Amino acid sequence: MSRTVYVNGEYLPEADAKISIFDRGFLMADGVYEVTSVLGGKLIDFEGHALRLQRSLSELDMVEPLGRDELLEIHRELVRLNAIEDGMIYLQVTRGSAGDRDFVFPDPETTRPTVVLFTQDKPGMADTPVAKVGIKVISIDDIRWGRRDIKTVQLLYPSMGKMMAKAAGADDAWMVEDGQVTEGTSNNAYIVKGNKIITRELSSDILHGITRAAVLRFAREAQMEVEERSFTIDEAKQADEAFVTSASTFVMPVVEIDGAKIGTGAPGTVAPRLREIYLDESRKAAI
Ligand code: PDD
Repeated sequence: MSRTVYVNGEYLPEADAKISIFDRGFLMADGVYEVTSVLGGKLIDFEGHALRLQRSLSELDMVEPLGRDELLEIHRELVRLNAIEDGMIYLQVTRGSAGDRDFVFPDPETTRPTVVLFTQDKPGMADTPVAKVGIKVISIDDIRWGRRDIKTVQLLYPSMGKMMAKAAGADDAWMVEDGQVTEGTSNNAYIVKGNKIITRELSSDILHGITRAAVLRFAREAQMEVEERSFTIDEAKQADEAFVTSASTFVMPVVEIDGAKIGTGAPGTVAPRLREIYLDESRKAAI
């Protein structure tokens, strides 16, 4: 079934949606994005995603094309028009098209950002059987740029990382810089030792995950200990459990790293519990 998508103020069938070949998102990866999940027809963590979008735009000196209320309205309208019960909403904002190719940013007064939103229908995604068995990851060098806290559309290396994982018979990759894990290709990375959850501290080295913020809050509320610091692949291999978080996977156990089983090689107790708490609380707070 053809989706209805949003492009610069219009709701259109996907086949009719068009942007310029001079769009800077296409030519320069000069754009930012957000991914918000939908459960039971409602938006999960919308406020966090809207705030991070605002921050990404401001860090790149891009104008904010839409306020929080308009953004919410568009997300809800796409959920309605595409009858999404469970799924994802992708939002991309680029610096637009000045009608030619130029490294220099165009004048924001005359070149407006391009705003695109589209949906992915994923019925029952919170009940994916993958969460019961967990995923396998490999480690790869983190060769991305230094502003990973900005959610840009420069996703070539994360795509390559997923391809490397696939070629190695794994599901995803954890990236390593100066011997320490930064994050997954499209998620934040965690290990568990005893009652302690360890995940890299926030900095420009990683994306400040919206799911990460919520999961750490719920973990602390559930009296689990949280340590925000970096860790090595060797430490991860010795951990009791490992997991990742993101808007699309929620909390997902990691059961193997570079071929080494984590714990028993099956999901432990902490990650599944956090997944359950996160899904319960997020559904309650969904708008
Ligand atoms: N990825 N780190 C990276 C590099 C990411 O791309 C993502 C999200 C996260 C987790 O952030 P959040 O919890 O806000 O989703 C961490 C999205 C889901 C994607 O690119 O599809």
